[in-house]
Amino acid sequence: MPSELLRSFKTSGAVAFSSHRLVRRIIRNINFKNAGCIIELGPGNGRITKELLHYMRPNSVLYAFEVNEAFCVDLEKIGDSRLKIINKSASTIKDFVSSTPFPSKNYIISSIPFGILSEDECEQIMRAIYDVSDKHTTLILFSYSLIQYRRLKKYFRKVKVQFEPINIPPAFVFVCKK
Ligand SMILES: C[S@@+](CC[C@H](N)C(=O)[O-])C[C@H]1O[C@@H](n2cnc3c(N)ncnc32)[C@H](O)[C@@H]1O
Repeated sequence: MPSELLRSFKTSGAVAFSSHRLVRRIIRNINFKNAGCIIELGPGNGRITKELLHYMRPNSVLYAFEVNEAFCVDLEKIGDSRLKIINKSASTIKDFVSSTPFPSKNYIISSIPFGILSEDECEQIMRAIYDVSDKHTTLILFSYSLIQYRRLKKYFRKVKVQFEPINIPPAFVFVCKK
């Protein structure tokens, strides 16, 4: 539903969903053998979600935090029991996933549009991501500018930057470890 993306520009911060090339670039950073628990932030209508579910093991779990109700309806239609959809802000991840049976949240995949959020909201979400991460967690985040690099370096020791030109607009992918 790309019209929903434009209608909700104030929270989506995008004019188009991620390209196939960007989704592939994100996915290439994941070792699915070690991915028991994946958290996705801002899945939209599920471009990345579907690809994650395609490669995930049958006993893995994917928690998806999405503020837009219409997108949550799209995500429900995927109909995969490994996908747990949470119609709440990414800043609430701790409340939902700290009680999971998985000791480590192996991957956190973020499409959160940090560029359009207030400084307070950005910091709340980054703090929440940091708090549920441990040394086995990899955060994979994409953004349309390099501005987020400084913020990420404040929280994560290792931040690797990749670039995907085939996307509207071209995007940077940050792969971060504590
Ligand atoms: C740029 S779109 C990305 C959609 C999809 N993941 C993709 O890559 O095509 C950003 C998504 O983040 C969601 N979003 C924005 N702020 C959020 C928040 N605080 N918590 C959870 N989701 C949020 C928006 O509703 C939107 O679906």
